[in-house]
Amino acid sequence: MKNTELTGLLRSRGIGQAGWHARGGACRAEVWGEKAFVRAVVEVSSYCRQNCSYCGMRRDNKELGRYRMEAEIIREILFEQLPPSVTDINIQAGEDPVVVRELVIPLVREIREKTSLGISVCLGTLDTKQYWELREAGADLYIIKLETGNARHYLDMLSPGTLPKRLEAIRALVDQGWMVSSGYIHGLPGQTEEHVVETIRLLAELPLSGNSVSPFIAGQDTVWAESPGGCLETALNAVTAMRLLNPNRIIPAVSAMNILHPDGYVRALKAGANLTTINLTPEGWRENYQLYKKDRLIMSEQRVISAIEKAGLEPSRVSMTEVLSSLTHSTPVTV
Ligand code: 5AD
Repeated sequence: MKNTELTGLLRSRGIGQAGWHARGGACRAEVWGEKAFVRAVVEVSSYCRQNCSYCGMRRDNKELGRYRMEAEIIREILFEQLPPSVTDINIQAGEDPVVVRELVIPLVREIREKTSLGISVCLGTLDTKQYWELREAGADLYIIKLETGNARHYLDMLSPGTLPKRLEAIRALVDQGWMVSSGYIHGLPGQTEEHVVETIRLLAELPLSGNSVSPFIAGQDTVWAESPGGCLETALNAVTAMRLLNPNRIIPAVSAMNILHPDGYVRALKAGANLTTINLTPEGWRENYQLYKKDRLIMSEQRVISAIEKAGLEPSRVSMTEVLSSLTHSTPVTV
């Protein structure tokens, strides 16, 4: 796909846009069938040593209650209350190496021993030894976002390190045998259309198993609390672009799309996404896992299953990591 065509896709609206989304959906169906994966996320710690401008869990946010969940509570959720449609678990936290060492690594080991669930983690930038300990414990997929693929814009986000360092982390993970998923936030303050094209291209070229796009939501108690939100329509178009560029990748529908419009999540699935997420962080904790606002939109099992049905899909019975490991690393295709 040439840059002019990619820009045309990102800008498309109305009938043209519907045509692109249908192509994205058909491409997803060709590789993955009329199926979406269902993963469950547990947000195990709201401590974070980073200070990203867009994120409510940034360390300078003193308004936020910080927690680390007790292993017993998580074990009960995962081993006794897991909704039957769930094939994959995602363990997520602020960047908190303590919780990784004390809680996540033993938990991953236990999930691996007791179940055949796919295991993903999203835990920020850690040292290579901790990545390896997680891998050895049995985790399969590491989620580490770029948020922007433009090196100068990256510095505005006050995110960990620099863009080249982030790319180095992705390569180090791939070298350790991880499947890696990355993505970006659409409509971050200071982001231009050129940045978006550059970011989508960069993601397409990296050795990734998954890609994501989340529209920017101005978060409470963040540096960018007063900034305008990202454009849902263009973010949905980015889902289609990612699908057409890398048909073999996992692409999530994300809750931020539903914050912007009640149909956002279903439309993402129709436009080519193939992953949904049920949030299992219990009440009492999740209010303090503040990505955007204290009052969160929680994707319950019922919301997720109904979105999958509305998109004309079925929940996959096989985990995404199992299917992914049967596909080769996807390099961009010519569309
Ligand atoms: N707007 C949109 N997406 C956000 N995320 C975090 N904060 C925001 C925000 N303000 C997304 C990022 C992050 C994921 C956990 O949530 O992509 O990696």
